[in-house]
Amino acid sequence: MSAVEDIKQRLDIVDIIGTYVPLKKAGANFKGICPFHTEKTPSFIVFPESQRWHCFGACSTGGDLFSFVMRQENMEFGEALRLLASRAGIELEPVSESARQQRDALDRMREINALAASFFQHTMLATAEGAPGRDYFARRSVSEQSVSAFQLGYAPNDWHHLEQYLKSKGVSQQEALGVGLLSSNEAGNVYDRFRGRVMFPIRDAQGRIIGFGGRVLDDSQPKYLNTPQTPLFDKGSVLYGIDLARGSIRESGTTIIVEGYMDVIIPHQCGVTNIVACMGTALSEAHIEALRRSTRTLILALDPDEAGIRAAEKGAQTAREALPHQMVPVPDARGLIRYEDRLDAEIRILMLPDGLDPDELILSDRERWDRLVEGALPVADFYFQLAMREIDVATAKGKKRAAERLLPIIASMDNPVERTHYLQRLAQWIRVDERELLPQLDRLRRPARRGPRRESPEPPPPASAPPRHTVPVQGQARVGLSLEERCLMLMLENPALAAEAIAAAELSVDSFDDTRHREIFARLVPLLNRAEEDFTIGVLTERLDTETNHQVESLLQQYRSGPPLSGEMLREDILKCATRLRRQQILRRIEELRFVQQDSQEQGLKERVRELNAQIKLLTTEYLQIERRFYAATFVGRRNTELL
Ligand code: UTP
Ligand code: MN
Repeated sequence: MSAVEDIKQRLDIVDIIGTYVPLKKAGANFKGICPFHTEKTPSFIVFPESQRWHCFGACSTGGDLFSFVMRQENMEFGEALRLLASRAGIELEPVSESARQQRDALDRMREINALAASFFQHTMLATAEGAPGRDYFARRSVSEQSVSAFQLGYAPNDWHHLEQYLKSKGVSQQEALGVGLLSSNEAGNVYDRFRGRVMFPIRDAQGRIIGFGGRVLDDSQPKYLNTPQTPLFDKGSVLYGIDLARGSIRESGTTIIVEGYMDVIIPHQCGVTNIVACMGTALSEAHIEALRRSTRTLILALDPDEAGIRAAEKGAQTAREALPHQMVPVPDARGLIRYEDRLDAEIRILMLPDGLDPDELILSDRERWDRLVEGALPVADFYFQLAMREIDVATAKGKKRAAERLLPIIASMDNPVERTHYLQRLAQWIRVDERELLPQLDRLRRPARRGPRRESPEPPPPASAPPRHTVPVQGQARVGLSLEERCLMLMLENPALAAEAIAAAELSVDSFDDTRHREIFARLVPLLNRAEEDFTIGVLTERLDTETNHQVESLLQQYRSGPPLSGEMLREDILKCATRLRRQQILRRIEELRFVQQDSQEQGLKERVRELNAQIKLLTTEYLQIERRFYAATFVGRRNTELL
């Protein structure tokens, strides 16, 4: 039994969730106020029978014990696993001695950082030496609450003050050097790295201090000094403010990314809390990683200068690749179905007024700030604006340049209506007939996608159920796999077919209960459109934790130990698994909705009952559609297939 299964057997989801959310018994289930969004009437239900939770309100999502803890504690799967393992009193696969040492070393580094932060804060708030720090924050309108929420402080202008303090707390010179709080010169002299600077502790998503930024109070250089790269601190992946922003990011689905410390602190103080900073570095995949689960709209705030614009361009590109994607079926002109992966999020660009940072703007003119956020441009409009500013289209050369610049952007758009819209815009701007641009656009449209293109004949009516055959289904020798596992196993081994199955069955992360499977699926989808050579399991697993990687390995092993699968049978098998999984998900959701409906009925919530009814109807329709799509897609091979 894997650790995950062991934990699930030992812990009851009701007990665990009950420690975070007050739960009330409702029939066979439990309900409470959803911890993930603001609500008055409880729409958060825990189902002991299936050991699942679901929010039937604004979140409209759910999962198992692990996904709950991940959301609630803002943890990665591996961390949630460790936490729950210790609650369940089970030993995770013995951590190797070196891994244990590494973990202890990191814990110690965070502990030392915490000591330093309290030293800096104490210096600022309670000593005469700290006056320049107090004055500085007062000048920049930082409130007392913000000083405390962000643990701001001041590093005395002294070469050894911190060193002495840390020593008094049992921290060795070596340790303090290791976290980057002390520096040493060539002569071997050791001294405090941060001197005479206001100090910004930098925390991870769980609020643990991983490093510091220190700002000078005059014009000397460097303006900001950071903790150097340490095993704990990687400047390129830090999102300043993430620990305080995550709640409102989750609630609003929107994240605003700015550049500097003050640009996070002041907005927070003014009530704009879904804001984080990437500390002057380029937006990286690692940044997005921390946001991808909860961000539906990403707003990049940028300086209107050249560097800022290029940074936004690059940032938007990175975000586009790293945010969640979804597989959707798209009929083309010939009635063939293709599968495209679409970005399941939106990226917007907020153009700041010249010379004004977010902190100054929000303090001086809150309404203007709100308008700018509201009016943040979709990336495509931003590119158009940019091109219009930079290219003179009066000349033939200019027209060509404009087309060369914008057509690739238009070509990459997922939505055909959107594509047409921008194509028309381009044509009007450069005064060229739209039709002239079409061939070029077609050529730029992404090259033939992976996954088979096939005819989709009229779906047969579902009532005339196909006769049941007794031909053994391939792959049945692989016993003991759950439907989720089987489905994933087939998809992992056959990425080219997976895209079609995912789209046909409209599978999403939510179709999987097991959090490991959700993690695997979320990684798999963006990879499906890569060229065959680029798809390796290694790419898929590089960001997964050990336990989830074990699951991937075990699935691959199962696949290889079973009879070989190929051709049309294989394709149908994948389609069937995906369809069954989705149907199972829908049926259970309907069952759960019926429960919620009955509960609402008892409470006399008529409006809610009607709403739920509509939801159930919608799901029923979806159920039938998916079933029909399966029969349509497997029309040719149906003779050989058993019923779904
Ligand atoms: P800015 O120079 O725009 O600073 O750098 P700022 O945030 O507006 O600072 P204030 O308002 O003058 O206090 C933006 C961000 O780039 C990083 C810091 O994270 C800073 O907040 N930076 C900048 C450095 O790390 N080192 C530097 O020398 C300068
Ligand atoms: Mn600034």
